[in-house]
Amino acid sequence: MIAVQDLVKEYGRFRAVDGVSLDVKPGEIHGFLGPNGAGKTTTMRMIAGLLKPTSGRILVDNHDLEHEPEAAKSALGFIPDRPFIYDKLTAGEFLTFHAGLYGFGNGNVASRVHEMLDLFELRQWEHQLVESFSHGMKQRLVMSAAFLHRPQAVAVDEPMVGLDPRGARLIKDVFRRMSERGVAILMSTHTLEVAQEMCQRVSIIQKGRIIAHGTVDEVKQMAGSSSDEHLTSVFLKLTGGSALQEIDEV
Ligand SMILES: Nc1ncnc2c1ncn2[C@@H]1O[C@H](COP(=O)(O)OP(=O)(O)OP(=O)(O)O)[C@@H](O)[C@H]1O
Ligand SMILES: [Mg+2]
Repeated sequence: MIAVQDLVKEYGRFRAVDGVSLDVKPGEIHGFLGPNGAGKTTTMRMIAGLLKPTSGRILVDNHDLEHEPEAAKSALGFIPDRPFIYDKLTAGEFLTFHAGLYGFGNGNVASRVHEMLDLFELRQWEHQLVESFSHGMKQRLVMSAAFLHRPQAVAVDEPMVGLDPRGARLIKDVFRRMSERGVAILMSTHTLEVAQEMCQRVSIIQKGRIIAHGTVDEVKQMAGSSSDEHLTSVFLKLTGGSALQEIDEV
């Protein structure tokens, strides 16, 4: 559903993304893991069509993002790590505006907006300005916008940052429910508990390259770890303990 082939992004001589391939199947929650600066956000912004690749190919629902950008983009919902929302809109207005961007017919907008507000437990704030929202409420609003147009695939960059346990559980439930309906979800996260709990497969990126991919158990085997070893220590083994090194360097 999301197929990325040999994707490269260069900034001058620096290759932020260096030949990444990913394959996220319908109904799969795919974890995109890697240390800070590995290239996750850069890859996801290219998948969302917000950043032009230096080379490589991206297909969403079999539509090539370069040649059929509208079809590819309408099959995708994107949830960025630092979303921008107009503060002076209410939650309902924000979603209605968003529906307009995706060319929703007027007839079914209101009911779809209500459906999403209910799903993300925001209905009681429908007429409140976004500027009064907490971080978690804004996060849920951005997610409801991403799912509004019934995308076949969703790319979500760090969805769990700053969410309280209830908010995190809600998001996990929604992602699971969407994946059961066949939606493909590519999710970057540093919360390896979430990856272990939710993802059928993971891809680990380091310095712009995929260094391991497969089911969580396959990745553990690749690292020479036992299946009951925590994904965090597997991750540190595979990435050469770079997360710890970074802390040491500070
Ligand atoms: N506009 C840019 N110009 C130059 N370098 C950039 C630019 N955007 C990103 N980079 C570099 O590309 C690399 C990958 O960054 P990216 O944001 O994709 O990492 P990430 O895996 O999302 O990290 P994090 O876990 O911290 O979110 C980093 O070294 C970053 O400094
Ligand atoms: Mg990032």
